[in-house]
Amino acid sequence: MPNKALNRRSFLKYTALAGVTLAGSGLLAACGDSTATASTPAGSTGTIPVAATGSSSGTIDPRNLANFTNPLNLPGSEGALGVLDLTSSASSSPLELVAKPLSLPLLKGKPAQLLTYQASLGGKSFINPVLRLKKGQTLKANLTNGLSEDTNIHWHGLKVASKMDGHPSRPLKPGENFSYSFPVQNRGGTYWYHPHPHKLTPRQAYSGLASFFVVEDEDTQRLNEALDLKLGETDLPIVIQDKLFDAQGQLVYRADASTQFMGFYGDTILANLTPHASLDVATRIYRLRLLNGSNARTYRLAFVKGTSSEKLAYWLIGTDGGLLDKPYQVTELFLSPGERVELLVDFSKLEAGAVVALKSLSFDPMHNEMGSGMNMSVGSGGMDMGNMGGMHSGHSGMMGSATATPQAGTGNASLDDGQEFYILKLNIKNKVSYNRSFPQALSSLEKPDTTGATVRPVVLSLTMMGQGGQMMQWLINGQSFNMDEYPITVKKNSTEIWEFKNEANSMPHPMHLHGFQFQVLSRQNSPAQLNPLATFSEGRLATDLGWKDTVLVWPGETVRTAINFSHNFEGEQLYVTHCHVLEHEDNGMMVNYKVV
Ligand code: C2O
Ligand code: CU
Ligand code: CU
Repeated sequence: MPNKALNRRSFLKYTALAGVTLAGSGLLAACGDSTATASTPAGSTGTIPVAATGSSSGTIDPRNLANFTNPLNLPGSEGALGVLDLTSSASSSPLELVAKPLSLPLLKGKPAQLLTYQASLGGKSFINPVLRLKKGQTLKANLTNGLSEDTNIHWHGLKVASKMDGHPSRPLKPGENFSYSFPVQNRGGTYWYHPHPHKLTPRQAYSGLASFFVVEDEDTQRLNEALDLKLGETDLPIVIQDKLFDAQGQLVYRADASTQFMGFYGDTILANLTPHASLDVATRIYRLRLLNGSNARTYRLAFVKGTSSEKLAYWLIGTDGGLLDKPYQVTELFLSPGERVELLVDFSKLEAGAVVALKSLSFDPMHNEMGSGMNMSVGSGGMDMGNMGGMHSGHSGMMGSATATPQAGTGNASLDDGQEFYILKLNIKNKVSYNRSFPQALSSLEKPDTTGATVRPVVLSLTMMGQGGQMMQWLINGQSFNMDEYPITVKKNSTEIWEFKNEANSMPHPMHLHGFQFQVLSRQNSPAQLNPLATFSEGRLATDLGWKDTVLVWPGETVRTAINFSHNFEGEQLYVTHCHVLEHEDNGMMVNYKVV
């Protein structure tokens, strides 16, 4: 394992001394929504499946494939992550969306207090609906804030006027509502939506508020016909998230100094809100739309045969902003928080009874905050601030059972950043005759014209803050987020090259841009572990070959992107760019920019 020396002392020097308290550090259930006791909305099937768990700590080991027995919650025609199909109901009455608490047993027999988006349409009820629209249609959605705190919706990846974008300066108070309305301008692809109220985003998203926004266009249609794909059946949106449960099956979230600095990690892997999920598939091609909806964890995704380490090839066909020009065969890729990939997985040559596992392979998480060689380990419990004794080595995580003082309800398992584990078990069940081969061309990708483009450095760095420099904070261009300042101004219709430059003493940051998609031009000074994947020109990875709104920038690396700021919105447009480790974003690793 890549985690080398684990120097806790140097971290604590900067945080524990600052008088950070861990008291009441936060069960979700205690966070103010517990009075609005949730029930399944009338008419809903409430289809989040129930997990079988034999563990009293609320943890099932995701490193053991035998634990993956819970049927994956498929995006059906209603219920949790149901496909809310708006493709035939253009600009009729607005969709009513309510953000409110809901109690659902994620772990067997243990209702967890979640926050969800709820909607109904045509007599069907939805929880976190997968919104399905055609390019060119207008989305009209009235959001009602049924929470006891501010919220709003950000349409991640969609090109919308900034007043519709859910900028952190545009929260809705409890009980308020807001009518989001915008034409869908994006290419066919897998987008998503989640809250973005300032200082509340990480916990709200973690608590359940997030789902897909699927846009369809002619390319989508062509691929559907070529491969006989159906959204929700053989074309599957799957959101991958890591969560932490307490013994009562409640989600645990901690917003302490260590998680604000490192991000929050869970040790239970959920796919479509199903912990340790399993899916029966037929011997044919599936399209998987994978969203990393985790707060902080990056996945190194591979498909393997059963429990072996034999990797199976699959095809990358799309990224954040829709289809690539053609399918690219890969055996692995990195997916950081906020990013999406679309894959084709071909089970047609496999025998019934075979098992394929989607897993995250081990990698060096590059927590080089203290300098390389002092790699810090991040487990489910974050840094163990309650146990301040000296050095600790190995990769068992700061909550490793041997040394940690267990904190209430955190369980005792840890799952370090970069550790290997399973995500989804695929059982090859039905032998079907399927004779399709995929098209060699998927879409056309226009390259932004960068002649004469302004080059804008976006530097990601770390600083010691506070009196005596005890607190560590992530900065963009040397600054922490200020709601009222717009340090970056770009001209409408111009093309710029944004050069994301991560310092060496850093950790990987998934950098996200609101408002516009970009293309990756080059990667420079990438870490060695990217070498086998950087097989395209200018050091690029397969996942860099399409339209993007989020790109992972590793310590020491420089990623150049081209962004065209043309739009047809009225007046000045105000957006943000930020790290999509939500704890980083919320703690200042975000900057306003305006398009004038
Ligand atoms: Cu998905 Cu500003 O974020
Ligand atoms: Cu976004
Ligand atoms: Cu970050």
